[in-house]
Amino acid sequence: MNRRNLLLGTALCAGTAALIGFAAPAPAQSPKIKVGFMLPYTGTYAALGNAIENGFRLYVDEQGGKLGGREIEYVKVDDESEPSKATDNVNKLIKRDNVDVLVGTVHSGVALAMAKAAKDSNTILIVPNGGADAITGPMCGVNIFRSSFSNWQPAYAMGEVAAKKGAKKAVTITWNYAAGTESTNGFKEAFEKGGGSVVKALNLPFPGVEFQALLTEIAATKPDVVYAFFAGGGAVKFVKDYAGAGLNRSIPLYGPGFLTDGTLDAQGDAAQGMFTTLHYADGLNTPRDNAFRLAYAKTYKLQPDVYAVQGYDAAQMLGIGLKAVNGDVTKKPEFAAAIEKAKIDSPRGRSRSARRTTRCRTSICARWWGKRTSWTGSRSRRSPIRPGAARADLPHRSFPLWGKER
Ligand code: PHB
Repeated sequence: MNRRNLLLGTALCAGTAALIGFAAPAPAQSPKIKVGFMLPYTGTYAALGNAIENGFRLYVDEQGGKLGGREIEYVKVDDESEPSKATDNVNKLIKRDNVDVLVGTVHSGVALAMAKAAKDSNTILIVPNGGADAITGPMCGVNIFRSSFSNWQPAYAMGEVAAKKGAKKAVTITWNYAAGTESTNGFKEAFEKGGGSVVKALNLPFPGVEFQALLTEIAATKPDVVYAFFAGGGAVKFVKDYAGAGLNRSIPLYGPGFLTDGTLDAQGDAAQGMFTTLHYADGLNTPRDNAFRLAYAKTYKLQPDVYAVQGYDAAQMLGIGLKAVNGDVTKKPEFAAAIEKAKIDSPRGRSRSARRTTRCRTSICARWWGKRTSWTGSRSRRSPIRPGAARADLPHRSFPLWGKER
């Protein structure tokens, strides 16, 4: 399958709280910084967790295994994308393993529990995926950062695209947890602003994959488009079942790029004709992204995806913070200030952090998944989501890069 990205862009939204000073005596530094990965290594998001860890380690290895002059060592916990175990799991890393820095996780519900524990214990947390809006909103703190996105971002972009393409009636379908709810709400917000209407919001418990009854309901409702948030193994199954039910022939499937990122090969022809929006795309063809992709492929014998990039950027953020404090993680305000000021050389493009906002400016790639290279020059010029127009279409760009708390 050929893939062309329409709009190249960068995104990085890190939240940091107001820089309130607090003075803790600097403990004697151990020679190494202990990073605790709390990621899903089993279950529907397992591949996502592995990609994040790979990306993170790749950046650290490129720096000779050290950040801010200190060697990095790792401990790991499999969070199983299970919110009910999240507090116990994160406390293992904080209290048993005495980590200096927490990195995790994928699932919004688990990430929220991590943010609470990080806040309570004043441990540095870098979230390399979990898009829960609250993490860079009310849950944010001087020690809490995100190298990924808020659930609202790619979803709102897709709502605009769907409305501009003339769709009037949409059905949304997702897992019933924070990410699914916030994603479908983001889509609805933009779609309805653009004149459309979400006539049905379907959901099932995470990480269920019993889609048949819901697909039957979609067929009976006959919307113009379906917007779906699924990721990982669940996204593979959903896209295949959607095509298996024949719905892809009459009702185009829209979603954030999580629907296809890292899953496209397994979906095969079932992904034909889908539309997605995301803050990263393969085929950016910039020297920075090409170098990253090559290094990742050589190291892991795998192609990187958005999750790998987010892990890589999480390590970059840690490196910037540690360098500014000479490896002394007790200096949280200085650590945070350095990350806020920095331009991060992401494979997505040079990016800066926004302060405490879920709606920070980002560029989103809108893509149509076709059998042949879909966006030839002439086609893309006619398309309502062609590169130039898409930038103007996407409201994110009007949000300030350094957003104020809202
Ligand atoms: C989330 O739970 O926030 C989440 C999970 C997987 C994704 C994106 C967001 O691909």
